[in-house]
Amino acid sequence: MSNIDLTLQIWRQKNSDALGKLETYTLDKISTDMSFLEMLDVLNEKLTMEGIEPVAFDHDCREGICGMCGAVINGVAHGPEKETTLCQLHMRHFKTGDVLVIEPFRSRAFPIKKDLVVDRSAFDKIIQAGGYVSVNTGGTPDGNAIPISSHIAELAMDAAACIGCGACVASCPNGAAMLFTSAKISQLCLLPQGHAERKKRALSMVETMDKEGFGNCTNLRECEAVCPKSISIRNIARLNREFVRAAFSEG
Ligand code: FES
Repeated sequence: MSNIDLTLQIWRQKNSDALGKLETYTLDKISTDMSFLEMLDVLNEKLTMEGIEPVAFDHDCREGICGMCGAVINGVAHGPEKETTLCQLHMRHFKTGDVLVIEPFRSRAFPIKKDLVVDRSAFDKIIQAGGYVSVNTGGTPDGNAIPISSHIAELAMDAAACIGCGACVASCPNGAAMLFTSAKISQLCLLPQGHAERKKRALSMVETMDKEGFGNCTNLRECEAVCPKSISIRNIARLNREFVRAAFSEG
């Protein structure tokens, strides 16, 4: 274990209407065993002792599961480590003297609520538009009653790994939510239980995505590069096929 000294430039903004700006703080003797969020906890304790309002940031599980955490570190959503959420990023990846610029996930569809906290309820609305199976699928079937190839099961499980953190939107110059939406559509349309509602789902989720102010995908792949769960843009190709099939078919 070793300790490092850091300079932090953190986006401070009182509320969604206020103007924000970067404030500079210094932290000494930060253990490299700490996670990034634990480092922010230490900062907040220091700020509280000094009578300064602590930095607001989102978090819940701190295990890379829930998708609540997220910030842009030196221009990269979730920081410099690949396939890693902010809560799983450790301070051993930084060195003493580093200057870290910490900003919220910025996007038109994710208004800033306070400091590093953004409103990601637009994602909830996309899910509410069709990210579920509502048809009656009967009782619990035998494990082998509906044969699904291991390849298809793997693709569905890979898509289901999306935790909805929003890093894809924050890193996309177009502010597109295509990676998120396509993962949610893929995990359902690949499996037989999701087939009955696939047309309605594709049309409704894409319509909601547009209505919530997300941009369009132009295949820049920034989303895929920062996704902590390695969601592939192949899912976006699948979403496009689902949408075209639904838009040009009857019923
Ligand atoms: S706090 Fe749950 S994924 Fe980071």
